[in-house]
Amino acid sequence: MHRTALVTGASRGIGRAIAIGLARRGYDVAVNDIDRQRAALQEVAAEIETLGQRALPVFADVSSKSDVVAMVETVESAFGHLDVIVNNAGILISGDVAGLKEDFWDSVMDVNAKGTFLVVQAALAGMKARKYGRIVNIASIGGKHGAPEQAHYSASKAAVMGFTRVLAQEVGVDGITANCVCPGIILTDMGRVNLDDPAIRNAWQEKTALRRIGDPEDVVGAVAFLASDDAAFITGQTLNVDGGIVLS
Ligand SMILES: NC(=O)c1ccc[n+]([C@@H]2O[C@H](COP(=O)([O-])OP(=O)(O)OC[C@H]3O[C@@H](n4cnc5c(N)ncnc54)[C@H](O)[C@@H]3O)[C@@H](O)[C@H]2O)c1
Repeated sequence: MHRTALVTGASRGIGRAIAIGLARRGYDVAVNDIDRQRAALQEVAAEIETLGQRALPVFADVSSKSDVVAMVETVESAFGHLDVIVNNAGILISGDVAGLKEDFWDSVMDVNAKGTFLVVQAALAGMKARKYGRIVNIASIGGKHGAPEQAHYSASKAAVMGFTRVLAQEVGVDGITANCVCPGIILTDMGRVNLDDPAIRNAWQEKTALRRIGDPEDVVGAVAFLASDDAAFITGQTLNVDGGIVLS
């Protein structure tokens, strides 16, 4: 059976690497991002096609239910079915708790937590009907650990992990697995928030057992594994991909 995947927030960074990584492993890949990222997303789709896989760029704000429902319908009708969802779209807006604007809290929760829920909810009917699905939610070590000025981000990623644990219990009976991947410090546009200051960058490197900052490609293997049939008996888990910052 030819497998298909949807990766949200796939125009750059970790999502882009995952989308291309899944295409290299033989998946047809629908890539999502917001309209502002149109040109970059189309480039990712073109790159997937050069790998010999079908690619479908779908523009949607994952925090909007109507956008998400339309996106999943578009993917299912183009590909015939949807096997794998990677909920990767996310935002980080820094601010300490004392001064945090309510808007910042809402935006971060809307994209990171509600967006994950909406995409899963829209895809569940199709996955249940086919008794097959792989859901991989990109959380963060920030949801376990966290750093100052990121309390709302940490809360949103903890929400993703809690959501995933319960989801796994609800959908296992339908042959669907749900797991989280928790990246550590990865060099992307978002990651630069933690890395632009050389002192902060060095401090993170020192805290990392492997003594380096991650690249987006470092996250791909874990996601591909959890999306694959090799992970058929793994569900409700969170896997840190952080070079050894959070040790368990
Ligand atoms: N970079 C890191 O160090 C790091 C660490 C842990 C977790 N993460 C998580 O990994 C994921 C990817 O992060 P990244 O570092 O590649 O960030 P990034 O900012 O480079 O990419 C995020 C992508 O999500 C898209 N996006 C944002 N809001 C969206 C929305 N409402 N609908 C659809 N797409 C939207 C953006 O346009 C962008 O293309 C995020 O969930 C992030 O929280 C990143």
